[in-house]
Amino acid sequence: MEKLTGPKKIKTAVFISGKGSNLNNLIKFSKTKKSPIIIDLVISNRKAFGLKYADKYKINKRIINFKNTKIAENKCLLILKKRNIQFICLAGFMRIFSNNFIKNFKKRIINIHPSYLPKYKGLNTSVRALKNKEKFSGCTVHYVTAKLDSGNIILQKKVKITKNETETSLDKKIIKEEHKLYPAAILKILN
Ligand code: GAR
Repeated sequence: MEKLTGPKKIKTAVFISGKGSNLNNLIKFSKTKKSPIIIDLVISNRKAFGLKYADKYKINKRIINFKNTKIAENKCLLILKKRNIQFICLAGFMRIFSNNFIKNFKKRIINIHPSYLPKYKGLNTSVRALKNKEKFSGCTVHYVTAKLDSGNIILQKKVKITKNETETSLDKKIIKEEHKLYPAAILKILN
């Protein structure tokens, strides 16, 4: 991948499906001097709440229907190539990419996941951690592969589960850590 020289930042797309708190956080990070990325595009697979952050910061946005993965991925690839996107951050994007898509962005797609991987891949991570009486959960930033939540880990952070922890309280603690971890992971691999 192109190395950073001078003020040139890596053109990045963020994929979302939901609230977009990580998107908002990444946009804010991208505007700092130390950020190696500039967010040029937001893609969502539905009319997600988080798209409002693309509007707020006047970032290009696209909604791509992922009912047919192959068609959707090809549409995404066209847009990404056209805009010369070099790096992709998944931020609550609830779809899995095929190998065909990923090979176009080898080592250049990363994801954040609300558990201390390899524990609790997939959905409802906090509910499952609480049910199993875990002492901690956490969050992980990892490279994306075609296998769910399984690529090489870039950074991760443990979050303690306390005595009267609920799903809501645990999710709240984890998302707070996510917002620190995602920029740190980007700095780690792109600086
Ligand atoms: C985050 O907790 C993120 O880790 C999770 O979705 C949430 C999105 O929140 N991602 C996954 O579960 C992916 N496997 P946000 O829309 O407020 O950023």
